[in-house]
Parts: sequence; structure tokens; C-alpha cells
Amino acid sequence: MTAVPVKNDRAVALWLFAICALLALMIVVGGATRLTDSGLSIVEWRPVTGAAPPLSEADWRAEFEKYKTIPEYAQVNLGMSLADFKEIYWWEWGHRFLGRLIGLAFLLPLIYFAMTRRIDRALGLRLLGLFILGGLQGALGWWMVSSGLSERIDVSQYRLAAHLGLALVLFAAMIWIALDLVSPRARGARHRLAPYAIALMIGVYAQMILGAFVAGLRAGRVYNTWPLMEGRFVPEAYFIGAPGVSDLFESMAAVQFNHRLGAYALFAAALAMMIAARKTALGPRARMVFACVALQALLGVWTVVAATPLALGLAHQATALIVFGASLYLVHGSMSSIEMTASSGAAPAGARGSMAAPTGSESAPMTPFHGTSRTGAPPPDVTTASAPSR
Ligand code: HEM
Repeated sequence: MTAVPVKNDRAVALWLFAICALLALMIVVGGATRLTDSGLSIVEWRPVTGAAPPLSEADWRAEFEKYKTIPEYAQVNLGMSLADFKEIYWWEWGHRFLGRLIGLAFLLPLIYFAMTRRIDRALGLRLLGLFILGGLQGALGWWMVSSGLSERIDVSQYRLAAHLGLALVLFAAMIWIALDLVSPRARGARHRLAPYAIALMIGVYAQMILGAFVAGLRAGRVYNTWPLMEGRFVPEAYFIGAPGVSDLFESMAAVQFNHRLGAYALFAAALAMMIAARKTALGPRARMVFACVALQALLGVWTVVAATPLALGLAHQATALIVFGASLYLVHGSMSSIEMTASSGAAPAGARGSMAAPTGSESAPMTPFHGTSRTGAPPPDVTTASAPSR
């Protein structure tokens, strides 16, 4: 595969990290849109013409009339003023507008980098795939919104979880590709703790999806005590009727309890990971993941006892992204040749692939752009690993 010169990797990586930041902002604005009950204020999906907000008073009135036709208006917001309608409209419009902006901020530099041959074909195709996935995410968003326009007064929690789930996949893929550029992985290089790091990252993802069900059912506004729920560890209302799988995703008590349980499991797993990694080059990253999980758990408890006010709901969501990003960073480190060879004396036991083991500090600083020479040759401290994979 053609190697990409370092100079270009840096520009491309910076651009991708900026897109990650925009995606994180998009997810948080999405959370604000939901927490302010604004998500159903635009009842149409016009990917191109919808970019412009209503510009005249007549336009605003027309949008408001459309909103008045859905059950949410009749059952929740009857008699709402135009000024109040504008407020919820701006949130939803802002969320959609940011999505369009991210599309452009991704596509235009992608074309530029491809035309100036600053990314190779393989990377270009991967990024194009992500662009298409981003378009699908927009369609998924509309599918979610449409679930709240006819019979319900809110969106389906299943579709909300799918929308968040795909957003996280995009976020993760973008971070992963950017990390590959700043710190290339060597094929076959694996820290012995890599499988645990991967399991932890999957656990964080699953916990976030459980959180989406809490958010989707507004279950953060009930059972506002901790550690017990209505005086019991396992809430009495866990099952709505006869026990069934659907309760796991449809009972407010169950989704909140499962999310609590997931947090305890994650806390224990992150702690175990930190202890297991303490004398290896993964130590600093494992400590970071644990600190983020612990902070997030505290924030979660605070959010629930305060009955999910806007600021705490948003802080909890934003911190979840940081936890996820940190867990990805840990996994990436566990597959990166540089981190492998940074450990003192010898590569960690169980590591596959034979790496040179330089002497030096236990956790040598991980400098960016150190994995590729200007000609794209493997770094000098990797003896048998293949060239950086992208
Ligand atoms: C430690 C790992 C945790 C992670 C990664 C996590 C992640 C998340 C995520 C992603 C959401 C969905 C946000 C949204 O879509 O708007 C959420 C919602 C929520 N989480 Fe957590 N959470 C964690 C721990 C906790 C704990 C320990 C509690 C409480 C005991 C908690 C309480 C809540 C509540 C109440 C919501 C609903 C907030 C809303 O309606 O906006 N979380 N969580």
C-alpha cells in the first residue's frame, strides 16, 4: 500500500479530529434538543431546502400551523405561543443544520485531499464510506422523528437508541482512522491486555445504548434516589406485567435499573483493567479510562437524584463521549507497535509478533507522528511487524 507522507498525515489527522469534535457537539446538541422537548417541532424532512430557517413572519406561522397538526401539540403544548414554538424550532433546526455543516466540513476537504493526492486510495474509500454512513444517519434521524408524528407524543426509544448507536459508530470510526494516522498500528501487534481493552470499549458502548433507553423513556425523571429505587435495590416495577423481554426496553424502572447495573459493572471492569495494566505501557491510558468512568458514574448519580435537569443531562451525555473516546484510545494503544515497544525491557508477556524491546522508561511518552518515517518506512524499533496499516 502506498505510504502517506507524514506532513499530509498530520493535516488529514487534524481535520478528522476536528470532525470528531463536531460530531461530539452534534450529539450533545441532539441531547439538548431532546431534553428541551424540541425534537418534533419540524414535521418535515427536506434535506436541501430545509437548510434555510423560516425567514418571514408568514413562514413562521406556516411552520407553526404544521406543528399544530401533530399529537404532541394537542396533548402537550396546546395553546403554545409562537415565541415558544420558535424556541423549540431553533433547537431542532440547529441540530439538523449542524448535521449539514458537518457533511460539508467532511466532504469538501475530502475532495481536496483526494485531488491533491494527500490521501491514498484505501483511506479515501474508507472516508467515502463514512460519508455515506453519515447520510444514512440523517435518514435514521428522520425515521426517529417520524415515529413521534402520528400516534405518539414522543419518539420511539428504540429508534432513539439506533440513532445514538450509529452516531457512536461514526464517532468511533473517525477517531480510529485519525489515531491510525498519528500513531500507526503494526499488523499482528497486540498487547496481552488488548482483548480486555476491546471488551471494556464494547461495554462502554453498550452502557451508552442503555443510557439512550433511559433518555428515550424519560426514565431519568423518576426513581430519583440512589442507591435504592423506591426503597429497594431491584425496583418492584421492574416488569410492567407478565415478565417479558420487551420490559427490558419499555419499563422505566427496568431501563434505569439496567443502566445503573451496567455502570457498576463498567466501574469494576475499568478498575480491574487499571490494576492489570499498571506496570505496562498501557497503564496511563487505563488510568485515564478509569478516571473518566468514575467521573461519569458520579455525574450519573447526581443526574438521577436531581431528576435530570438540562445542564446535568447534557454534562452526563458529553462525559459519556469522553469515556468512549478514552476507551477507544486504550484499545488503539493496545494495538500500536510504539506502545508495545515502550514497555521496559521486554514486550508484555503474551504479546504476539516479535518486537524489538528497547530499554527505557516503563511508559515512554507517546509522541504523535512517530510511527512513520517521511518515506513511510516502519519505525526503527519495530523489527518484524509489517508496514503501518490503514
Ligand atoms: C459510568 C458509565 C455511564 C455511562 C457511559 C453513561 C452513559 C449514558 C448515556 C450515553 C446516556 C444517554 C444520554 C442521551 O442520549 O441523552 C445516559 C443517560 C442517563 N444516565 Fe448514564 N451513564 C453512566 C452511568 C450512569 C449512572 C451511574 C447513573 C445513575 C445512577 C446514570 C443515570 C443516567 C440518567 C438518569 C440518564 C438519562 C438522562 C437524560 O434523560 O438525558 N448513568 N447515560
